[in-house]
Amino acid sequence: MDLFEVYKKWDIEPVCGKDTTLWTADGTEYTDLYGGHAVISVGHCHPHYVEALTRQAKKLGFYSNAVKNSLQSKLAAKLGEASGYPDYALFLCNSGAEANENALKLASFATGRARVLAFCKAFHGRTSGAVGVTDNPRIRAPFNANPNVSFVPLNNLEAVEKELTQGTYAAVIVEGIQGVAGIYEPSDDFLLGLRDLCDKTGTLLVADEIQSGYGRTGLFYAHQHAGVRADIITSAKGMANGFPIGSVLISPAVKPSYGMLGTTFGGNHLACAAAIAVLEIMEAEHLVENAAKVGAYFREVLQGSKAVKEYRGRGLMIGLELKSEYVGLRDRLLFEKHFFTGAAGENVIRLLPSLTISMETAEAFVKAWKELTA
Ligand SMILES: Cc1ncc(COP(=O)(O)O)c(C=O)c1O
Repeated sequence: MDLFEVYKKWDIEPVCGKDTTLWTADGTEYTDLYGGHAVISVGHCHPHYVEALTRQAKKLGFYSNAVKNSLQSKLAAKLGEASGYPDYALFLCNSGAEANENALKLASFATGRARVLAFCKAFHGRTSGAVGVTDNPRIRAPFNANPNVSFVPLNNLEAVEKELTQGTYAAVIVEGIQGVAGIYEPSDDFLLGLRDLCDKTGTLLVADEIQSGYGRTGLFYAHQHAGVRADIITSAKGMANGFPIGSVLISPAVKPSYGMLGTTFGGNHLACAAAIAVLEIMEAEHLVENAAKVGAYFREVLQGSKAVKEYRGRGLMIGLELKSEYVGLRDRLLFEKHFFTGAAGENVIRLLPSLTISMETAEAFVKAWKELTA
């Protein structure tokens, strides 16, 4: 059987990793500033993470949500504390798209309304509801076009106000920082205004922190830089360092009822053990602070680079929009200097490294960058 080829792949196969280093079978070494798309938060094969997963796999890997699972409660307590949302409730699922599906479903249940406001260039996942609020018709099949969804430009409060004052919206969904679009931030004023409009119109504010959350921007969630609180927050990618998991944090104003949400695999023992280990490592190694520190260094040295048209993002969620003459730079970083980086479109390099990245690794990357752009 052949694979159903939907991914454009490099002809490179990493077979093992340690922290921010990857190796192929022939021993060739690469430095990972992509983190498998913002997923590797505590470094590849962190000993505490490996130990926690191994220990749990030997004890009990899975049982369904029909029984008690104290690992889920432990994760909820730790995540509540780390995120600054200790009073919220946690629903666990398996991926980012699934977290957004559940967030929007909850908002609709809670308000009794059907419509959702989303932003131009947004990416929220590929399942039906999530792709319905994703502004990319190329990945939305006719089946997924959703008449209940409207899109307005990010950072345009007037356009938001015009929609929300109709009083028909269950939710507004906004990325902490738009990732797939090429790293575009909602401004602090915009988020404050959005919060206010949501309050005035009885609309729930859903923050999609799937890429921007979990400490990546130097605070636990990116929307917290604006000092706002969301009603529902979704996380996935960095939560369990590659073990599939997704989460929805839910305001106490939204009340649960049996059966309103559900999943077979969500919150299983292995996923919870992995996610707890990630939070323990983040706390012990001060990784949120490290993301802020290394991110500040990248900004300081790369925003003036002659290859960079615009430096966007915060902390370790970085978009480097290249001048047109440097469009092949990402391939050169990989094939000549052995640095993995991410992309957004043709001309934006995305840096989404593990939050464990050292200053030495960051400096080595900057050296390689300077050599290729001299
Ligand atoms: C902001 C955002 N939301 C949702 C998703 C979808 O997550 P998943 O691929 O785990 O379904 C992504 C994935 O890139 C994302 O960046």
